[in-house]
Amino acid sequence: MKVLFVCLGNICRSPTAEAVFRQVLASDAVDLRIEVDSAGTHAYHIGEPPDPRTQAAARRRGIDMSHLRARQVHASDFEEFDLILAMDRENLAELKRRCPPRLQERVRLLLEYASAAELEVPDPYYGGEAGFEQVLDLIEQASRGLLDDLRRRLMR
Ligand code: 4NP
Repeated sequence: MKVLFVCLGNICRSPTAEAVFRQVLASDAVDLRIEVDSAGTHAYHIGEPPDPRTQAAARRRGIDMSHLRARQVHASDFEEFDLILAMDRENLAELKRRCPPRLQERVRLLLEYASAAELEVPDPYYGGEAGFEQVLDLIEQASRGLLDDLRRRLMR
């Protein structure tokens, strides 16, 4: 089972989802074989580490993201990943546009797996520190729901 998290730049939200979900897997699902990666729909930040504000917020929760580097979504990702989870509707629409018709079911919103009121992880890039905390809160919630869903799928 392979899961890809996707946002716009791959320097704030989707690398956070990659790092948080990896931590959840390492602590609660060592029995499951789930691979995780992240990517951006845009090319602005290819090769860059996560935004310093993103790294600082994650570090406050004990998560090191310094080794991650941004990449763009590739056409082959739609074949390779079983689930491709967008952070917001804009990126969902872009992924759906690029995804072959027979693989559209793989492309969804990450927050479908959270019990949050909202379905989008807001872009924190142009805002203040609270935005980065909110990104982590929403992603932590969704990660629990996502793991439960993957467990059900893998046991079928
Ligand atoms: P991300 O955040 O999509 O969560 O990585 C952004 C990163 C960069 C930009 C926008 C959002 N940008 O405009 O460069």
